[in-house]
Amino acid sequence: MPSVRMAPSILSADFGRLAEEVQAADQAGADWIHVDVMDGRFVPNITVGPAVVEAVRAATKLPVDVHLMIVEPERHVADFVRAGADLVSVHVEACVHLERTLRLIRELGARSGVALNPHTPEDAVSYVLEAADLVLVMSVNPGFGGQAFLPAVLPKLRRLAQARQERGLEIDLEVDGGVTPDTAALVAGAGAGVLVAGSAVFGTARGTAAGSLGDRVARYREAIAAIRDAALQAPPG
Ligand code: DX5
Ligand code: ZN
Repeated sequence: MPSVRMAPSILSADFGRLAEEVQAADQAGADWIHVDVMDGRFVPNITVGPAVVEAVRAATKLPVDVHLMIVEPERHVADFVRAGADLVSVHVEACVHLERTLRLIRELGARSGVALNPHTPEDAVSYVLEAADLVLVMSVNPGFGGQAFLPAVLPKLRRLAQARQERGLEIDLEVDGGVTPDTAALVAGAGAGVLVAGSAVFGTARGTAAGSLGDRVARYREAIAAIRDAALQAPPG
């Protein structure tokens, strides 16, 4: 299994100490920093805008992974790229001209991502996979941190991993929502290469150890390594 990357979501961080929290995640071995942007329309909650992306950008050299849960995202992608986003994901459910928006993100110099709500079938992105650098599979209904993982999305993840292989595409598969050390092995085993985790990294969500942020990231690494070892030991076929 290729290496699995960790993208802690600052949604569950202490915003009063945001730069320190981002730096702690960086030092704990995070690979990307995930920023959840919500507008109170596409999702019920309102979070942050480009100014916070700029603050995250200034706090770390890690790739900044911006997840736009907003309507008409094409109106705002340039502001987020200008603020320092390396990757911008838009929701398929929020885009009338999805391919155009993904192309715009690339033209602006960022990597393009397309996100799918739990009920949205993978067919919704089938015709735009060439324009995407990443597919983000939501494993909770977006809007809040700390929700329970929806295992119903696992077959979708497997089918996307298979489509990627069959079509020879270089696309990252990212999973977001309810990813704890307990569910990490399931999603990594289904083909996810990037795991978003908010409350289980920055907070003390159910099923996670207390301890430092470094300890929490380490628990993910152990869970992922365990399934990789199991896959290596499994008889071929
Ligand atoms: C959910 C957000 C997630 C959220 C994940 O709407 O897109 O990125 O922060 O939080 P946890 O890991 O707590 O489910
Ligand atoms: Zn997210």
